[in-house]
Amino acid sequence: SKPKMTLQEGNFLALVNEKNITSLLLATQLDIDHQDVIGIIKSIQSLGDVIRTEQMEENMWTLTQEGNGVLERGSHEFMAYNFINPDQGTPQQELMKSIPNAKVGFNKAMSLGWIRIEKVAGIATVFRNVDTVTDNVQQVLQMISTGNIASVGGDMLKNLKGRKLIVESLIKSYFISKGDEFMLDISPLRLPAEITAAMLASNAWKQMEFKPLNLRAKGNLPQGGHLHPLLKGRAQMRQIFIEMGFSEMPTNNFVECSFWNFDALFQPQQHPARDAHDTFFISDPPLTTDLPQEYVERVKRVHESGGYGSTGYKYDWKIGEAQKNILRTHTTAVSARMLYKLAQDGFKPAKYFSIDRVFRNETMDSTHLVEFHQVEGVVADYNLTLGHLIGIFAEFFKKLGIEKLRFKPAYNPYTEPSLEIFGYHEGNKTWIEVGNSGVFRPEMLLPMGLPKDVVVLAWGLSLERPIMIKYGFDNIRKLVGHKQDMEMIYNNPICRLDF
Ligand code: PHE
Repeated sequence: SKPKMTLQEGNFLALVNEKNITSLLLATQLDIDHQDVIGIIKSIQSLGDVIRTEQMEENMWTLTQEGNGVLERGSHEFMAYNFINPDQGTPQQELMKSIPNAKVGFNKAMSLGWIRIEKVAGIATVFRNVDTVTDNVQQVLQMISTGNIASVGGDMLKNLKGRKLIVESLIKSYFISKGDEFMLDISPLRLPAEITAAMLASNAWKQMEFKPLNLRAKGNLPQGGHLHPLLKGRAQMRQIFIEMGFSEMPTNNFVECSFWNFDALFQPQQHPARDAHDTFFISDPPLTTDLPQEYVERVKRVHESGGYGSTGYKYDWKIGEAQKNILRTHTTAVSARMLYKLAQDGFKPAKYFSIDRVFRNETMDSTHLVEFHQVEGVVADYNLTLGHLIGIFAEFFKKLGIEKLRFKPAYNPYTEPSLEIFGYHEGNKTWIEVGNSGVFRPEMLLPMGLPKDVVVLAWGLSLERPIMIKYGFDNIRKLVGHKQDMEMIYNNPICRLDF
């Protein structure tokens, strides 16, 4: 039999470029092994999305060994016809022993009327009955062997099957179509994709050609990387602050000095919040000594004897108490640092926010842990009023989905007036406390060096509380801690329109 062709990748891609095709049809039409076509497919697919395949099962007529013999030499009837001497005929007995499958050939040729039999001098002799014949069977087998069966009639297929020249079998094949990265010349894809340490060491990379980057490739969807509800809430609030023109304060110090956490905020040293029952003290290092000395002096004075129109607290302020290191109990310590810096840099109106952790030495229960996230905000400008503070909350909470707000007078050592903020939860039909706020006192701002007529509005909200309500959690441990329900994190919606 003739040697099989080999298929080049380039030719293969040119064929795919013309039309979608199946691997089996390609193999039969080009007379190559189906396995070779599949090899080429696999090799091209390893380079990316050049071609796509879909597995399918194709019903396929193939030639039997006998069928292949007919394809090569002609049908039995054709061979019988040819064997017969065109002039004198051939004795039947001679015909029967000289060619393979002579009986079949003789019978078929007879019934086709190609030959006739006569007695010549008592000997049965076979004569040709027509001058020429066409070997239909061979022609049809040729068509079948090249996968070209569309014009072959069903009767013919049945007939050839009955003669055991062809068989039908189910063959796994691939439907091939172009991929997103289809190209006719894939040689660049075979270039090295990455620089190796060896190429760098030998400087070989300078002379090398590399696989071009495919900037249009779609990335893989990551399996992980789901945001925890707390982080989603933080991202949403951060987005709202940024939309409202706030910039974020640096909150990267969980350990804070009592001076910034309390004293700078005009919180007296005997205040119960400064007790070890409410505050975590740091033992190593226990103290911070690099504090701005002149400012410390002014803070000491305002605590002890007032000034700026205040009488002060009238007690002995001790630097040793102010130097004590603690875990910050609120991010208002960060606001104090920022406002002091703003005064030193030359005051300009500012809007700041932060969302980060604070720590309190509290008894833990279903709604309290010893740490939580505080949402802090500060607005410093001339001519601000309480109306502006309320206006900011109206805007901020509207963006969060809370439309109804209520305020209740409160007390903080560093604000006057002070307001507790309540939001109406439409789902639970209840008012919930969402934070605390106020206007910073002159006893806090003026020792920092801020201009007299600057007003600073400020607030602190809890991040966990609104999120617990949003997700319907009755226990804060479902939201914070080492035991997390990963399914809940995977499955909770990307965003919620309800609150
Ligand atoms: N620091 C306060 C708290 O922790 C919140 C607050 C911040 C109140 C700023 C007024 C002004 O509850």
